[in-house]
Amino acid sequence: MTADRRRIGYEPIETASRDEISALQIERLRWSVRHAYENVRHYRDKFDAHGVHPDDLRTLDDLRKFPFTSKADLRENYPFKMFAMPRDEIVRVHASSGTTGQPTVVAYTQNDIDRWAGLMARSIYAAGGRRGDMVHVGHGYGLFTGGLGTHYGAERLGCLVIPMSAGQTEKQVRLIVDFQPDLIVMTPSYMLNLADEFKRQGVDPASTRLRVGMFGAEPWSEAMRSEIETTFGIDAIDLYGLSELIGPGVACECLESKGGPVIWEDHFYPEIVDPATGRALPDGEPGELVFTSLCKEALPMIRYRTRDLSRLLPPSSRSMRRMARVAGRSDDMLIIRGVNVFPSQIEELILQQPKLSPHYLIEVFRDGHLDSVVVDVELKREYRYLSAVDRDYVAGTLRQHIKSLVGISTEVRIADIGSIERSLGKARRVIDRRPGATPRANP
Ligand code: DLL
Repeated sequence: MTADRRRIGYEPIETASRDEISALQIERLRWSVRHAYENVRHYRDKFDAHGVHPDDLRTLDDLRKFPFTSKADLRENYPFKMFAMPRDEIVRVHASSGTTGQPTVVAYTQNDIDRWAGLMARSIYAAGGRRGDMVHVGHGYGLFTGGLGTHYGAERLGCLVIPMSAGQTEKQVRLIVDFQPDLIVMTPSYMLNLADEFKRQGVDPASTRLRVGMFGAEPWSEAMRSEIETTFGIDAIDLYGLSELIGPGVACECLESKGGPVIWEDHFYPEIVDPATGRALPDGEPGELVFTSLCKEALPMIRYRTRDLSRLLPPSSRSMRRMARVAGRSDDMLIIRGVNVFPSQIEELILQQPKLSPHYLIEVFRDGHLDSVVVDVELKREYRYLSAVDRDYVAGTLRQHIKSLVGISTEVRIADIGSIERSLGKARRVIDRRPGATPRANP
């Protein structure tokens, strides 16, 4: 065989015209809404109560007439009542653990699994992965979608997969050094954890063969991207997804343009709505991402409220629209003495300080009637012998930056190296200790 095995090229739809994409979307949308209505009691009751019927869907904008779906709907229909296919057509379930008890269960038919593998293969290709590349998968395998979702996609593309899973951090470093993978896929916080482990073992993280990392499953910032890219000498690509829609592979950045994940619009129809009122907003406006699945058989999702805050951006290196990096989840937003704060804003400021590491924890307390915020952050390893005076100076500078740029007073404490809990998957960045605060998602 003389053909170049490393280039399979784009799928035609990735570079199709807007008209072609819209035509495909409306055809698939009509199927998906009807499929949900005819096969899921919950959708039928909800559409009926709302006075809408699948026949009302003639244009893409008609979708706005339909009611939203939320995580609460999945919880209420736990475990299997949202499934739209007979039990013997379902070949896989995944679940998110959730913090308040009940997990949400998601399901796949064989066709769903095949399409998911195709979308993850497309995502890895967009990130610069090619047939024959070796891919180190450091997402957890199991009920979490990250491990198996990436695994099937990488195999579909023709890559050699290392199904490392999350954890055993020492061994991860060893295998990366010995096997020399080209790509790595995990959460950005775990990648930073790995960076520390490389340094602890005396190995320069930039000395590996790694070329690209695909990161997601939790919010991260541009500053975090730079940190990872410089430390490892790789391109860091933003990969987005959620279990309710499929898992990883709903949207992915392209290596050549970055600038926000491209939404695979032939499978997921995106909208942005005002998180408070649910009103649909035009492209470019910030708000909550809402998705409707277009092809899913086992678990159709109609207008699913993700709680993720983003914006819809125009296409760049593909014909489909992009989403802006997720600024945070609406339920991650802290209101501190009336000021809205996202942990990612504080993260940006921490990473601007050359002596500070990306390991931090934000705790919120209530003293009497007032909220108080403590930011614990570790120094980079190379500054571990910094004098007390210099530590105070670093902490003071960060405190001032948070005050002037975010608008809240904080106490900044320099924590001992290694004392802040390291993540193996999704990092926990905030502990809200105020009475009545809801625990934050941390699967
Ligand atoms: O985290 C799926 C996934 C796995 C995506 C691996 C990417 C890589 P869930 O556990 O259901 O699914 O969590 C979904 O994670 O609603 C976002 O809040 C957050 N999230 C996922 N990707 C990103 C990202 C997986 N690239 C929830 N940036 C979503 C920011 C992300 N947040």
